Amino acid sequence: MDLNLNTDSVMNVRPDADLLIVMGRRSYLARATPGSRFHTDLGYIEMSGLIGKPYGTELKTSTGQSFLVLRPAFRDYTEKLSRTTQLIYPKDAGAILVWADIREGKRVLEAGTGSGALTCYLAAAVGESGHVYGFDVRQSSIEKTRENLRMRGLENRVTLELCDVTLGAKPNQLDALVLDMPSPWLGVTSLKGNLRPDGHFLAFVPTMNQVERTVGALLQAGYVRVEAFELIQRFMDAKPNATRPKTAGVFHTGYIISGRNTLLDRPFLPPPPPRPLASETVTSQDFFDSLDKPG
Ligand SMILES: C[S@@+](CC[C@H](N)C(=O)[O-])C[C@H]1O[C@@H](n2cnc3c(N)ncnc32)[C@H](O)[C@@H]1O
Repeated sequence: MDLNLNTDSVMNVRPDADLLIVMGRRSYLARATPGSRFHTDLGYIEMSGLIGKPYGTELKTSTGQSFLVLRPAFRDYTEKLSRTTQLIYPKDAGAILVWADIREGKRVLEAGTGSGALTCYLAAAVGESGHVYGFDVRQSSIEKTRENLRMRGLENRVTLELCDVTLGAKPNQLDALVLDMPSPWLGVTSLKGNLRPDGHFLAFVPTMNQVERTVGALLQAGYVRVEAFELIQRFMDAKPNATRPKTAGVFHTGYIISGRNTLLDRPFLPPPPPRPLASETVTSQDFFDSLDKPG
């Protein structure tokens, strides 16, 4: 992928540009390689015929079927990513970037990289001046992540290493830890020293028992502003006088847990507030109090 071509100043298809071919409900990622043909179930497309055409143009396949040619958005690449593991969905990726405060120049540790969907979002967000340190316990995940980063021209922003992060990792003075792995609570303590004292912790987990263990570990280790939430995305069938949520789709992806590191290595137990807090942030006091009151 040529990231430089995917800018608003480029209005016409250039040779070898990445394209999003839209046909009704279906869309395909393709490359405008001169002389090549792109096959679809509605006929093939001569890619040379697209070069020089403005994006947004309606064109025809070899069987006379209409299609439109657009520039791919970042999520189009990740949705069509080649994968060996479950991927982070775009709705969760957006929230992860905001809650972990991933921006230009940040130094981020990610584990496990899996197929690299989240790694691509992180690498795009940290820009040229930031860096992502990606770890996984499986060599196949490291290789898949490397392949997917290379296809997006992002490999220089990421260092990949085979490593079990529950046993510790090398990079220090990190701005954020982003864990999408089965036991993130083990990473809470093993990686605390790698994170800046006020850095961001974020974990993505599919089940509630993982949420409880991770929140408990964060509070125990002196993290504050600990929050856990789920994002529910409902796509709509929009039709005149009959708009309603779609009945098919992905209804559960996972839960996001976030917190801020501190120099404490024990729970921060502030005095109880004079009146109930409006905030939904979990404090150590709330969490440990509730352990004594089952149900
Ligand atoms: C669900 S996948 C991550 C998917 C990834 N976020 C994506 O968007 O493509 C979980 C990954 O965690 C890795 N993993 C499990 N335990 C780990 C550990 N202790 N340290 C590093 N990686 C680990 C697994 O090998 C697996 O590749």
